[in-house]
Amino acid sequence: MAPGIQNQVVSDTTLPAVIPESNQTPANNATELLFTLKNTVTLVTGGARGLGITLACAIAEAGGHVACVDILEQPLPEEWAGLEKIAKRSGLWCKYYQCDITNEPNVEQVFDEVKQETQRLNAPFRGTVACAGIQQKQPALEYPGSDYERIFRVNAVGAFLTAKYAARAMKATNVHGSIVMIASMSGNIANRGLDCSAYNSSKAAVQQMTRSLAQEWGQYGIRVNSLSPGYIRTAMTDALLQAEPELEKTWMAGALLGRLGAPEDFKAPVVFLLGSGSSFMTGADLRVDGGHCASA
Ligand SMILES: NC(=O)c1ccc[n+]([C@@H]2O[C@H](COP(=O)([O-])OP(=O)(O)OC[C@H]3O[C@@H](n4cnc5c(N)ncnc54)[C@H](O)[C@@H]3O)[C@@H](O)[C@H]2O)c1
Repeated sequence: MAPGIQNQVVSDTTLPAVIPESNQTPANNATELLFTLKNTVTLVTGGARGLGITLACAIAEAGGHVACVDILEQPLPEEWAGLEKIAKRSGLWCKYYQCDITNEPNVEQVFDEVKQETQRLNAPFRGTVACAGIQQKQPALEYPGSDYERIFRVNAVGAFLTAKYAARAMKATNVHGSIVMIASMSGNIANRGLDCSAYNSSKAAVQQMTRSLAQEWGQYGIRVNSLSPGYIRTAMTDALLQAEPELEKTWMAGALLGRLGAPEDFKAPVVFLLGSGSSFMTGADLRVDGGHCASA
């Protein structure tokens, strides 16, 4: 506190009835409207299965049109049928695009196609979730440089290209959009019993990329935040657990809520980050890890 003002009563009588920032923020709305994605289009990479398609369902349940992008030729049939059902129920558009997020012309083309759909739908392109990622367990002493590069190419460069074309589309239409980068708690900690130096480093890169892009794109009203999950049971972790079942015991030792995560645990966090409720949030990391990083 500045000297001389210790005993002064700070008066708020100079504040106007409605502060100017309240007139500026899209969050100045009824709370239920802060979590709606109605009349918006969002693109989700890694949207063929696992976390990505669950997040796509959350977006549709929040009223948004959704494009799912993945390297796989087709999305998992059962999951895709679930998404289509939600979309049909609410008169929403959803479409699957096969795309390798490390192939820049391919990424640009998909964003162009989605932009055309937004015109047809008369709904702004307002959201992107960069969820595609790969994992590899390999002791660092034997890690081939080419594999290390492959992990970075998908998890860091692919995530960057996704964010770049998302921001270009938003800027071109003057839309104040939200980009969510799926990182990991492994960007903050080195997982016990899991030799994944490339994956962990790539996720730390995603977290720092988030801050850097937020710094550059805030001037266009484009927000960039990362969402860092803890252990989630998906195809990615299932492969690790099947190869080494004893890993689950190590993971559970840090599970303060007594369980691993489910893809559904990330539905509300992603809708919050995409919606206007998080209007004042950019360059931040939202860690959702069942308490894993809170205890040693
Ligand atoms: N499962 C976990 O415990 C966990 C924890 C923290 C973070 N994450 C992150 O969540 C995201 C989703 O993981 P998941 O568990 O659902 O895994 P997943 O393997 O089921 O899904 C990842 C998806 O990314 C796609 N993909 C891979 N390379 C691609 C490329 N070059 N172009 C386009 N798509 C590509 C895959 O085909 C797959 O559908 C990843 O970024 C992952 O790192 C997962």
